[in-house]
Amino acid sequence: MSKKIVSLLAVIVLPMIMQAKTLVAYYSYTNNVERIVNTLSTQITCDVLEIEPAEKGLDYAANNYALGTQLLNAIRNNPNDASSYPAIDPVEVNMDDYDMVVIAVPLWWSQMAAPFQTFLFRYGQQMAGKNIGVIVSSASSGISGVVSDAKRLIPEGNFIEPNLWIRSSQTSNAASLISTWLSDIHYNELTSAITSVENDKDFDIILSEGILSVNGDFNNLALYNLSGHTVLETSDSPMDISGLQNGIYIARLEKGGQIKTEKMVIR
Ligand SMILES: Cc1cc2nc3c(=O)[nH]c(=O)nc-3n(C[C@H](O)[C@H](O)[C@H](O)COP(=O)(O)O)c2cc1C
Repeated sequence: MSKKIVSLLAVIVLPMIMQAKTLVAYYSYTNNVERIVNTLSTQITCDVLEIEPAEKGLDYAANNYALGTQLLNAIRNNPNDASSYPAIDPVEVNMDDYDMVVIAVPLWWSQMAAPFQTFLFRYGQQMAGKNIGVIVSSASSGISGVVSDAKRLIPEGNFIEPNLWIRSSQTSNAASLISTWLSDIHYNELTSAITSVENDKDFDIILSEGILSVNGDFNNLALYNLSGHTVLETSDSPMDISGLQNGIYIARLEKGGQIKTEKMVIR
């Protein structure tokens, strides 16, 4: 009887490690980024989150983009102060659900549009160790300033290169640009194998000071990267993982006929 339960558990747990989850978060003022995101969401499976300024009906482009410039200057003058960032509508998102976050945002004066900076100021820390894809729409200016803003606001993100720059005039051609980009960043490999795993409350793997160990006896302990490749495996001793790159890994423990998995962020 107990054997049957054990093998059933293994069947239930294993498929969970095959399901990756991507969040696409965006802000769009004149809808170019929104069109890009709509197109992207026909090409990948993802949740989509739109960031919206709390104050409606503002004209960021009036008077030679005066308001947009003012918002960006406030951030630039004091980037570590929450009050420098324009208010946005409340956001309901649990970053733990996602392994990859694609941010899609307009360029304003060679920087990241201000309302989206507010979102990243609040949630960027929670994206540590996740794969981050960057899509930027601009009329003509190059996007390196926006990428710098993203890296400042998601300090421990695992930024996937190249970034995707779509000029406003190319918006109607977004489908082919996005599909090329997804293949350039090896999107399927990044997300196809392992990621979303429920954390198991009585899981007895311990990660401490670069050493991964198990409470008591076990049969096998393996660590996988997000592409599903085994990066380390052991049947008896603790693992020294200090040489691994920062990122998200899946630990899989076989113990007494049971298999358990847990997502680990290594920083
Ligand atoms: C406040 C503001 C400042 C902008 N600054 C620039 C700029 O410096 N260079 C540029 O090429 N485009 C600039 N743009 C144009 C936008 O980047 C471009 O239209 C983009 O496609 C807008 O995306 P959206 O339609 O999703 O809002 C600016 C737009 C606004 C509203």
